[in-house]
This record gives sequence, C-alpha cells and structure tokens, in this order.
Amino acid sequence: MSGTTTMVAHELTAERAGEWIRRWDLQQERYACDREARFTVIADVVETATAAVGRPLLADLGCGPGSLAARLAGRIPRAEVVGVDTDPLLLALGRAHHGSLVRFADATIGEPGWLSALGLDRPLDAVVSATALHYLPEPALLAVYGQLRESLRPGGVLVNGDHLFQEDPAVARLAAVVGRRHAERHGADAHEDWRGWWAAATRAPELAGPLAERARRGPAPAATTG
Ligand SMILES: C[S@@+](CC[C@H](N)C(=O)[O-])C[C@H]1O[C@@H](n2cnc3c(N)ncnc32)[C@H](O)[C@@H]1O
Repeated sequence: MSGTTTMVAHELTAERAGEWIRRWDLQQERYACDREARFTVIADVVETATAAVGRPLLADLGCGPGSLAARLAGRIPRAEVVGVDTDPLLLALGRAHHGSLVRFADATIGEPGWLSALGLDRPLDAVVSATALHYLPEPALLAVYGQLRESLRPGGVLVNGDHLFQEDPAVARLAAVVGRRHAERHGADAHEDWRGWWAAATRAPELAGPLAERARRGPAPAATTG
C-alpha cells in the first residue's frame, strides 16, 4: 500500500501575531479596564525620568506579548526596550509582531541568573511591569526588587502597575465587587476571558510550535503561579 502525506506549515506571521495580541489586549482589559490609561501613566513617568538620557535602557518584567513594552518603544523611540517573560507562546507572539521594537528575553524572573538572561550592557534607566509581579511570592519579589535596585542607574525608576492581593477577606470581597462593577460600567466584561483566549490559542495551527514548547516545559515555575 502506498500513500502520501501532505504537511502544511502554518507560519506565525507578524500580521497574525498582531491579531492575537489585539485579542490578548481586549482579554486583559476584562481584568484591568483602565489598562491603556495605566500604560500611559507608566510611559509618562518613564519619559520624564529618562528625558536627559541619550539612549535609555528600559525593561518590562512579565511583558507577555509585549503590549506595554511596544507602547514604551513607540513613545520613546530612542530607547532600547527589553521585555522579559517566561511563557514561550506569549514570547513568540511578541517576537513575531513587536520584534523590531522590543528585544524579548526568555527567563523566569526570580530564578537564579534571570537578570543575566536580559543581556544588559549598562545600567537600566527604568523598569516597568503591568499585572505580572503579583505572581511572585513575597520573598521572591523582595529579592527581585533588591536586584533591580542594583541594576538601575542612580535616579532610575521602577514603575509597577499591578493588582495586589488583598489579605483581609472583607477588603478582598469589596475589592472584587468594585472591580467587577467598574468593568461592567466600561463594558469590559463583554470581552473574551483569559480561559477563552487560551482555549482559542490552543486550537490555532500557527501557534502549535510555541504551544508544544509550553507543554514541554510543563507547569509554570512556582514563582509564576499565584
Ligand atoms: C497577566 S499577564 C500580563 C502580561 C503583560 N504585562 C500585559 O500587561 O499584557 C502576566 C505575565 O507575567 C508572566 N510571568 C509571571 N510570572 C513570571 C516570572 N516569574 N517570570 C517571567 N514572567 C512571568 C506571565 O507569563 C504573563 O505573561
């Protein structure tokens, strides 16, 4: 018996990655409907703090597919922007779509050597992060802050736009209600949610390679789980 096998290569083009990132941004707005305003405020701080620097070096921690990093690169075109994340699929999307604006580093923040993976050749002028650092357990986060202090130039800034976990259950309940109502008023709850985005990504042939790498790596390291 004879037969032929046809293999169709599905390429992750810059355009297709851009569609996934736009969908990611809408999904993220479910959880932070002021996300764009937050990015703008972060960029205001970074732009001001680096105004006198010829070629500012900026890092975005837990950059995902690079939404904030790319906005910073657009706002401060003379800057060198490094995004660091541990997720191969999000990194693949970022590299495919924002690769000309942002250098993406594959590392797990908090693990030994994570800062070296960023390939920095001079002190950082600014470190930013959006809704990512809360994944780190408190001791790991404190250690990371200490390392960043050593890596920033004097006068450099760290701007973290994140959601903090509320330890007091009563405050946590209030925060959940306020957050949900805020999202409803902005229509953000109509967007696809996190699970929906990942379920769709899992079925996309052009993402099969990064998904296989994600599966090969197994569950996210302890420092990346809430
Ligand atoms: C909610 S997403 C936010 C992504 C991006 N900052 C944004 O606003 O679109 C959290 C990101 O943090 C990353 N992350 C969590 N823990 C990490 C760690 N220890 N090292 C690197 N990345 C981490 C995840 O892979 C994910 O991309």
